[in-house]
Amino acid sequence: MNQPFETAIFDNGSIDSRVDPQTELFRALRSHPRTVPPRWLYDDRGSELYSQITRLPEYYQTEAERSILEANAATIAEITGATTVIELGSGTSDKTRTLLDAFVAHGSINRFAPLDVSEATLIEAAAMLGRRYPDLEVAPVVGDFNRHLHRLPSGGTRLVAFLGGTIGNFYQEERRAFLGVLSDVLEPGDWLLLGVDLVKPIDRLVAAYNDSQGVTDAFIRNALTVINRELDGNIDVGNFEYVPFWDGREERIDMRLRACEPEHARIEALDLDLDLEAGEELRIEVSTKFRQDKLLTELTEIGFADGEFFTDAAGDFGLALVCRQA
Ligand code: AVJ
Repeated sequence: MNQPFETAIFDNGSIDSRVDPQTELFRALRSHPRTVPPRWLYDDRGSELYSQITRLPEYYQTEAERSILEANAATIAEITGATTVIELGSGTSDKTRTLLDAFVAHGSINRFAPLDVSEATLIEAAAMLGRRYPDLEVAPVVGDFNRHLHRLPSGGTRLVAFLGGTIGNFYQEERRAFLGVLSDVLEPGDWLLLGVDLVKPIDRLVAAYNDSQGVTDAFIRNALTVINRELDGNIDVGNFEYVPFWDGREERIDMRLRACEPEHARIEALDLDLDLEAGEELRIEVSTKFRQDKLLTELTEIGFADGEFFTDAAGDFGLALVCRQA
């Protein structure tokens, strides 16, 4: 059977990786609640705003993950003995260097394969890494981790690093599908290193997504600007109020934009009239928080086990290291 797109079906209407991004958005905007897939957050300005978020005093995640990697990268190299390190959604970050420094010092690694949607980012990263690690083969893969995991290089012992807490942006069924596909493309003995933000007191969680400088508000709101620009839309971005809240049942931060006045917008490229009542909300992003035991159980059910779980001194963030089982 000929299937034009890969991975799974999701019935919440928000994300469907089988379809192209515009169809996906069309469906998401007509689902209940209306949602916007996270890819619309990350144009150049969105990436810049996210990088500002990582430096906010309220946003502990980036620093916490860095400290875990610094303390444990050598152990991770030792346990896995990986010959290929793959980083999903790698960008050009310094955590990549922390990881690679340890693997190069350990001596098992011969190849690094960053996967990113942006070819320009990959070219920049490859040049930088080539200078820093002259003996390492750098094998960039252009792709979207939701759709193109089959493009990952094979052979040797692989460690797939998926850092930054990005998995928290997936809905539960999406996360299962993603991990299932990942488990399928890996071989027994390959490894997964997964960065997750952990459940903690609500006031700190909410503060991290409702910063006093309004950077997160600007970041979330930017999704509408991106849609207007790329899809010939006329959504009145100023008519929305940023509403983040903790969903205790799903254990996730839910980030919404609420229409202050009725909104009647047209998104030409989708052939969609977006009509919202006053008070109606668009859910732009979720950020799920994890518990060590539940996460390791979930990973075991999908075929990953023999885990290690590393945290920072405060127990804010976690790095799960698990091995694909036979
Ligand atoms: C990039 C997914 C880790 O969920 O914390 C930050 C994105 N959104 N503030 C997160 C985000 C609002 C971030 N991740």
